[in-house]
Amino acid sequence: MAYIGYSRSEHTQAKQLSFRKMIDLHMQITLNIVRKHSGWAKQSYRYFDLNAGPGIDPITGELGSPLIALEKANAIWKDDYEMDFFEIDPISYFKLRRAILSPNVRVFNCNNELVDNFLPDGVDKTQYGLVYADPSAAPRLAIEPMGAICDRFPKVDAMFNIAATSIKRANSTKPPEEILRLDDMRARINKKHWIIRKPISQFQWTILLGTNWLNYPDWEKNDFVSIHSDLGKEWLAICNLSERERQRAIQPTLF
Ligand SMILES: C[S@@+](CC[C@H](N)C(=O)[O-])C[C@H]1O[C@@H](n2cnc3c(N)ncnc32)[C@H](O)[C@@H]1O
Repeated sequence: MAYIGYSRSEHTQAKQLSFRKMIDLHMQITLNIVRKHSGWAKQSYRYFDLNAGPGIDPITGELGSPLIALEKANAIWKDDYEMDFFEIDPISYFKLRRAILSPNVRVFNCNNELVDNFLPDGVDKTQYGLVYADPSAAPRLAIEPMGAICDRFPKVDAMFNIAATSIKRANSTKPPEEILRLDDMRARINKKHWIIRKPISQFQWTILLGTNWLNYPDWEKNDFVSIHSDLGKEWLAICNLSERERQRAIQPTLF
């Protein structure tokens, strides 16, 4: 099963740069919101990483998403955060465990599909935070685990990093009724508002962030726009459809 275990590509550095900016902005924005609503909002940040990896890239030594999130949380939220990291590969899991000292973090060596077993009962509308999925190129986007977290914590936002071409490639061998496009996956997560990062490289790497907060800034200077803007619709179409499907959508066949 090739999707298990950490791998890097020429896109990894750009991905971590985007992630660093996004998590920084997200933590700052949510901190401002919860401090403004201290009467009812929980005064802490909750972060879930569904594809945590080893924490430190074994070749370049650069930090991966769990350690970037931890570094930012320590700087922005001080001690007011809780984090759950899921990693299926035992080698990556042990490396990650070794790199983490914070008592506010739980690391699980299991399939993220089991996330429901680790969530508290009931719905908590007072908790802000983020769930992040970053599978390897294979289209295993952990949509169900993400959805389960967002249902339990409606104010926890959802973000994923994916190579859109890997989804299209997987769809190309499926019968029409089984085809699940990137946008179908996104729509399965109950969030009102989505922003998308410009797809990059021939693999069309993109990041989608879903939130219930309608006033979410588009962060255009970091190449993120609303999926309802003209540019957002164009980027989503690039990620959803093959070249030929896009041509057909523009020029429907006459016969
Ligand atoms: C691209 S790497 C993640 C890198 C990490 N987010 C970072 O920024 O450094 C994907 C990771 O997801 C793990 N993984 C794949 N499927 C998984 C699953 N179903 N549950 C938990 N972890 C999984 C892989 O073993 C791999 O370490």
